[in-house]
Amino acid sequence: LWQNVPLAPPDSIFKLTAAFKADTFDKKVNLGVGAYRDDNDKPWVLPVVKKAESIILNTPALDHEYLPITGLPEFTSAAAKLLLGPDSRVLAEGRVTTVQTISGTGANHLGALFLSRFYQWTGDKEVYLSDPTWANHPAIFKNVGIIPVSYPYYDPKTIGLNFDGFLSSLKSAPEGSVFLLHACAHNPTGVDPTKEQWNVIAQAMLEKGHYGFFDTAYQGFASGDLDNDAWAIRFFVDKGVKMLICQSFAKNAGLYGERVGALHVVSPSKEAAERVKSQLSVLQRSEISNPPTYGARIVTLILNDAELFSEWKRDISTMAGRIIDMRKELYKLLTEELHTPGNWDHIVNQIGMFSFTGITPEQSKALTEKAHIYLTVNGRISMTGLNRNNIRYFATSLDAAVRG
Ligand code: LMR
Repeated sequence: LWQNVPLAPPDSIFKLTAAFKADTFDKKVNLGVGAYRDDNDKPWVLPVVKKAESIILNTPALDHEYLPITGLPEFTSAAAKLLLGPDSRVLAEGRVTTVQTISGTGANHLGALFLSRFYQWTGDKEVYLSDPTWANHPAIFKNVGIIPVSYPYYDPKTIGLNFDGFLSSLKSAPEGSVFLLHACAHNPTGVDPTKEQWNVIAQAMLEKGHYGFFDTAYQGFASGDLDNDAWAIRFFVDKGVKMLICQSFAKNAGLYGERVGALHVVSPSKEAAERVKSQLSVLQRSEISNPPTYGARIVTLILNDAELFSEWKRDISTMAGRIIDMRKELYKLLTEELHTPGNWDHIVNQIGMFSFTGITPEQSKALTEKAHIYLTVNGRISMTGLNRNNIRYFATSLDAAVRG
């Protein structure tokens, strides 16, 4: 048995965590997975999460019954409001179906599965993904029979956005194509369109009747402001672009292992939203039956209590602020102290948890092999793995790798 099962390679991101843990070198640095670390390189349980957990522990009436198939209602309604805004017209009109999912990955999966079954495909089942994109996106779509195709996004020459390439792909794709868009803090590049560019993208999507498959895993992490980071999504909804949104609370609430997320599908009418909900329930039931309770309860408390919500915003600023400080510090070390060859402006210009350094796969491998610094071979670094104790070691190692 299993003679025909080929050995698969380990996951490109999580294999770095395993290798880092197994490494005994005292100066090792993990810049692989996008998971927040504090200045002592420790996972950070947000103080607001601790408060919410103690409320849960002290609520004797809570039980361990099944949630409804589409999730905890107080969670799904608050998550939709956080994303679409308290004054959202589509929410008031009852045109949004929200289903609680197994974090952002589960939202991507359920959204892709739903499209695979019900989208009005005119040709092959294809999804346009940015080049590059999160390493998991292609596999998620392939699993449900949707073929991933790339659209130009990152320009290695400018270490910025290839806006012309992106736009011409939007214009030349067949009418009604599905485009996956990162709402903010693009993973892995940290390069986002400007508001003007989003406007042009929305126009092109409307002209061609394209479908927007938004992924938002970093609301609050890009600018430190939750509303600001939802700007592109709200703008596209207002313009009437057909779309769904995948939302994760892994990063902004530091609830990585609790798998808290949601899928939001915007429909043309309340009646259509109800039909969509009925089918999402059928799909969800056969996949996970009912979503998990614990993390959703934490987020529900935070989103529905004014005091906890303000505290959460402060915690998000703490995380976003530390990342920005690390960007500034790294930039200063490379440019003012080490005079590392090349332009490093992108370190401070890029947004969110990641920086796409622009180094080659060989330089990236050299950093891992010679300096015990773990990063994906595409040169992406998780900025949160840097702190006051290791940033100089990283900068000098990067300088050495670049000089060869
Ligand atoms: C990452 O890109 O590092 C994170 O989103 C973690 C993951 O699931 O890959």
